[in-house]
Amino acid sequence: MQHPTLQMNGKKNIFLIGFMGAGKSTIARCLHSHHGMEWLEMDKEIEKSEGMPISEIFRRKGEEYFRELETGLLLSLESRSNTVVSCGGGVPLRSCNVEAMKRSGIVVFLTARPETILERVKDSHDRPLLEGHKDVEYIAGLLSKRLERYQAAADVQIATDGRRTAEIAEEICALL
Ligand code: S3P
Repeated sequence: MQHPTLQMNGKKNIFLIGFMGAGKSTIARCLHSHHGMEWLEMDKEIEKSEGMPISEIFRRKGEEYFRELETGLLLSLESRSNTVVSCGGGVPLRSCNVEAMKRSGIVVFLTARPETILERVKDSHDRPLLEGHKDVEYIAGLLSKRLERYQAAADVQIATDGRRTAEIAEEICALL
């Protein structure tokens, strides 16, 4: 199958940002399999390099250690091209991460309502920040604390609630 080529005004990569459960991995997989992009999942890369799940990194080494790993990984991606990067939900909270993303790509903020997020994350146990807090109020609270950072980092914002993955991927292609 032929893949449409993305027009990215000289920028090489797409960074998908947004809250946990916003659909970053799902959309990244679609851009990879239907639009010919390389796909990099930050959480998976970090798990591979540390040899343990994210929840264990948080438990044994702490959140700050994990945040340093995220920044190191992002900086190492600058030589890549034609790659869609599914970022961990906390990546845009550090200005240096946002600067690194903007140097090598376009930043797409995927949004979802707290109710949608809860529905998507309620059965998984690999997000330490949500363990014991699987409720709309907590998700809405953390989301509102982060919203400004997400919006400031974003070149484009796309709502995902109730929409098909392929349609969102097409929209991203059309915008770039
Ligand atoms: C986090 C999001 C997670 C993961 C870690 C912290 C966050 O990634 O990086 O649990 O701070 O929002 P996903 O957004 O892919 O779930």
